[in-house]
Amino acid sequence: MELDDRVVVVTGGASGIGRALCRRFAAEGARAVVVADLDADGARAVADGLNESMDDREATTRALAVATDVSRESDVIALVERTEEVCGPVDLFCSNAGIAIGGGAEAPDESWERIWQVNVMAHVYAARAVVPGMIARGEGYLLNTASAAGLLTNLGAAPYSVTKHAAVGLAEWLAITHGDAGIKVSCLCPQGVRTAMLLGGLDPSASEAGDQAFPAGQVVLASGEMLEPEDVAEAVVQGVREETFLILPHPEVAEYFRHKATDYDRWLRGMRRLQQRLIAGA
Ligand SMILES: NC(=O)c1ccc[n+]([C@@H]2O[C@H](COP(=O)([O-])OP(=O)(O)OC[C@H]3O[C@@H](n4cnc5c(N)ncnc54)[C@H](O)[C@@H]3O)[C@@H](O)[C@H]2O)c1
Repeated sequence: MELDDRVVVVTGGASGIGRALCRRFAAEGARAVVVADLDADGARAVADGLNESMDDREATTRALAVATDVSRESDVIALVERTEEVCGPVDLFCSNAGIAIGGGAEAPDESWERIWQVNVMAHVYAARAVVPGMIARGEGYLLNTASAAGLLTNLGAAPYSVTKHAAVGLAEWLAITHGDAGIKVSCLCPQGVRTAMLLGGLDPSASEAGDQAFPAGQVVLASGEMLEPEDVAEAVVQGVREETFLILPHPEVAEYFRHKATDYDRWLRGMRRLQQRLIAGA
């Protein structure tokens, strides 16, 4: 799908990957970019920035900020209603907001429930809110941000890994079930990206889940090239243009995923070795 003249919603649009997506979609000529975030001031700042830059260039994108808590279904419904009222039907819904919680099975139920709501149920709420209208119109696009942790795993972070696997599973199911009705689905699975979540968010939230040998964020930082959010936005524009299901800004993730599928036990042994190395180096 080309982004030109499209109405796009981005959750988690106030920061990191979501903010880069908003800016890039505007640069691609989207008709409207709706910046949705729990951080209302941050969302407004991104939308204001886009509307101001519109004066400089002859762009036609209109940006709108909507304060949204994606873990509440009523907020997601209100976000879609507001978008439709101001900008028209949603062509591309980017369910991108996410949180990171580290630790293992011992993480408190409250942490598991919170991350399940944001990293999984928010995608369910988005699909419920937009898919029926997209089916009626015969077209529509969902971009769900999961993570390489949803295809592989994130050492030291069970709540994050498990919810991201669920996010991949949901995206896969939606793509199969609604593909023939004209609904496109892409699942974005980056590895390390230089954002507030990775640089500051993972480690403090990991500590709330109890003791662990090493911070989960350190694993991501140690496991390969760190991309900028703008690099991810570039991969998304390409992936959406080509309508590929998996969007992998770090191409090596495809290779790791292939290794896992080819010999799961060998892959598990390799991950245990990596874990040992990280604990030794912590
Ligand atoms: N940074 C990485 O290395 C990396 C790697 C793989 C996947 N991801 C995923 O990318 C997505 C974006 O993360 P990021 O790295 O840009 O982090 P970020 O912390 O910079 O941005 C996340 C945004 O989501 C918002 N948010 C959090 N909870 C929300 C809620 N309940 N409702 C609405 N908004 C909410 C935050 O306010 C923030 O603006 C997440 O789903 C994350 O899991 C990130």
